[in-house]
Amino acid sequence: MAERIKWRVEKSWPADGPGLKTFFLADERAFFRAGSGRDEKLEVYRQRKLDKSLFLGGAELEAGDLFVPLTQFKRLNVWEAVKCAALEGFNQAKSLQISPLVLVLDGDGAAGFHKKALEGVILGAYAYERFKRKDPEKAADGFTPEVILVAGDLDPEVLSAELQRIETVCLCVNRVRDLVNHPPAFLGPEEFAGEALKSAAECGLKIDVWDENRLHEEGCNGLLAVGRGSRRPPRLVTLTYEPENGGDDLRHVVLVGKGITFDSGGLSLKPGASMMDMKSDMAGAAAVLGALEIIGRLGARVRVTGILALAENMPDGGAQRPGDVIIMKNGKSVEVKNTDAEGRLVLADALQVGAALKPDLMVDAATLTGACRVALGIQLAAVLGRDRDLIERLIKAGEESGEILWELPFEEAYLEDMKSDFADIANISSAPFGGTITAALFLGEFVPQEIAWAHLDIAGPAFPGKKWKYFAPGATGFGARILAGLVKNL
Ligand code: BES
Ligand code: MN
Ligand code: ZN
Repeated sequence: MAERIKWRVEKSWPADGPGLKTFFLADERAFFRAGSGRDEKLEVYRQRKLDKSLFLGGAELEAGDLFVPLTQFKRLNVWEAVKCAALEGFNQAKSLQISPLVLVLDGDGAAGFHKKALEGVILGAYAYERFKRKDPEKAADGFTPEVILVAGDLDPEVLSAELQRIETVCLCVNRVRDLVNHPPAFLGPEEFAGEALKSAAECGLKIDVWDENRLHEEGCNGLLAVGRGSRRPPRLVTLTYEPENGGDDLRHVVLVGKGITFDSGGLSLKPGASMMDMKSDMAGAAAVLGALEIIGRLGARVRVTGILALAENMPDGGAQRPGDVIIMKNGKSVEVKNTDAEGRLVLADALQVGAALKPDLMVDAATLTGACRVALGIQLAAVLGRDRDLIERLIKAGEESGEILWELPFEEAYLEDMKSDFADIANISSAPFGGTITAALFLGEFVPQEIAWAHLDIAGPAFPGKKWKYFAPGATGFGARILAGLVKNL
């Protein structure tokens, strides 16, 4: 776990006070860029009839202060730019070994920026360094500046409470990143279930773990089939959040996550290079766990169930073979034409377990298809489903957290390509196109029509494979904030 950053709010900060004072400057371009907060901010901008730039610090700028124009983060919307700008201040203070870092956000247009700034610092300062030895030569490595956020006209107490919530969210996101970055030798299905037990104890969640015997009894044959190729048996974990003083009329949200702790492809083995980042194939399950942690710690007026489908996809002698047929929980038979399309098999079980709870809403998150990276790149995740309102709610939650979702069509005509000569449905499409859509359609075959359900394919942004915005290379924790935000906004 990365080091915790100390922070506090101050009403104001003297010009000659200690620390690295960091000022932000936004100009009209920062506000005109698409994204959340734009309209609100534009209004502030217009009302003040600022013709060129909006200085977000009320205090005087002096020599030695750090001045960060938000426009340098060219292609980011204003909220994302603030996160990057605050991180830049933090990194400068760290390398100069100056503490505190004073984020001067007391100017007229700056309301709402504090939260984003703290988010940028906590997410941006994260590094997975568990297996790296510290270099005693680099003193700055062990130095962490304290962060002061200048409140200006805002009530410092109200602001502090809001910032505490954001801190909780970000620490949970960083925990998701730890799980995803963790080497697969140390995190198989059982160890992941163990981590979920820890989360449950810490965050006040109920938990139930199904082992292979129970999975057999419950007819979770997709999980069992995928897990068969590994020495480490699969698990299905159910976590539940119940509001403290809930009534009978509470809504119920089910969140489902793909948790393939390593995806070798199975007997349909992946080529070496494609296997490289496959420890991240449990990022959907980790995001669901993270969302439940956030909800458990911050509370909600909704019942929430998280279901993690955990298995390792390996090509052991016991592995399922191309041509095998699985009889799923609902009686539908699936021909496994490619053992590398394993995510949909484990999710089908988890979605059926979720649907049996008759939730008002159900969402799954999964690093499901390479095709999604081809279609949308690494910066966007796909959302697909039958329910307009749910899809729009998810997109909105993503805009709030800076996790962008793009809807792809849930085009049922493509089910034509999922036909099998030997079973009710095949696990891959016969066409080489539209892989993200056909994967979602497969999942849809295991979700009753009457359930409002949506699917997130997070194969791109969960593990982008390089430094991105305020994220170090590796896992981003993508999706946890969307799922928690969906619940919060209900
Ligand atoms: N886990 C992969 C998808 C993936 C690929 C995620 C690259 C992140 C980066 C998934 O299990 C998979 O292997 N999908 C196959 C499906 C195909 C066999 C129909 C794919 O995308 O090639
Ligand atoms: Mn696969
Ligand atoms: Zn996979």
